[in-house]
Amino acid sequence: MATITVDQNDLEIRVKSMYRDVAQDPYGDFHFELGRGLAERLGYPAAELDRIPPDAVASFAGVGYYLRLHDVTPGERVLDLGSGSGMDVFIAALRVGPEGRVTGVDMTPEQLGKATRLRDEAGIGHVEFVEAHLERLPFADGSFDTVLSNGVINLCADKAVVFREAARVLRPGGSLVLADIVSEVPLPDSIVCNATLWAACIGGALEQGLYARLAEEAGLAVEQVVDNTEYRFLSKGAQGATADYGVKSISLHARKPRA
Ligand SMILES: C[S@@+](CC[C@H](N)C(=O)[O-])C[C@H]1O[C@@H](n2cnc3c(N)ncnc32)[C@H](O)[C@@H]1O
Repeated sequence: MATITVDQNDLEIRVKSMYRDVAQDPYGDFHFELGRGLAERLGYPAAELDRIPPDAVASFAGVGYYLRLHDVTPGERVLDLGSGSGMDVFIAALRVGPEGRVTGVDMTPEQLGKATRLRDEAGIGHVEFVEAHLERLPFADGSFDTVLSNGVINLCADKAVVFREAARVLRPGGSLVLADIVSEVPLPDSIVCNATLWAACIGGALEQGLYARLAEEAGLAVEQVVDNTEYRFLSKGAQGATADYGVKSISLHARKPRA
């Protein structure tokens, strides 16, 4: 069981402030890279990025192209945990087609407001954005075929609860496929107790083996974990954490066993 050492209220305030800025001013100064250049380097197909709202791509703050490990297919019901300005939701919507449905959840009002406006302007009917915390998902058990997430669970203080919620809303046989920031060795308390470093996607990085174990303890079978070597942090401080503790991006695919 991973101990929670960061002040959760403080963390929520800082995360919301950081990702409000990502929604409103994606060309500002951040610890991490944003936007189309990042998406293409991670592996997102340019032809699909061309077909979704450019402002969603500009605010993309993900850390990996996890759909390489497991793709969504036409007609599926898909949930994106921490959907931000909506890029992954719009990509998934292209792939599931109008017979499918994609739901994005996020707690930051400016991210949700932007994603919803872009959806409406583009007239995309099979997408919805819902304000919620990942720790308390407002969906019935087994509601989704696939759950996605990109660069988000590291920001959550109680990752065990987030994995349990993801497992709960998946149907038996469904997949959780995500990219996230983890570390190769446990981070020291000086980093883990610092809410500012959490909001910058560093402080909340869990040791990789423990991260996968929390997914397993939530009832998911981890099938594949790969390093996203194309991902890198921008700031010197973040690059230092990478050098000292192996803070890095991974993609992970886990499946909920059939009943
Ligand atoms: C690094 S951004 C990634 C956004 C999006 N997945 C992308 O790839 O651009 C993290 C997002 O997760 C959201 N978030 C973080 N913790 C959350 C929580 N506990 N509940 C709901 N949303 C959360 C933030 O509001 C932010 O929009």
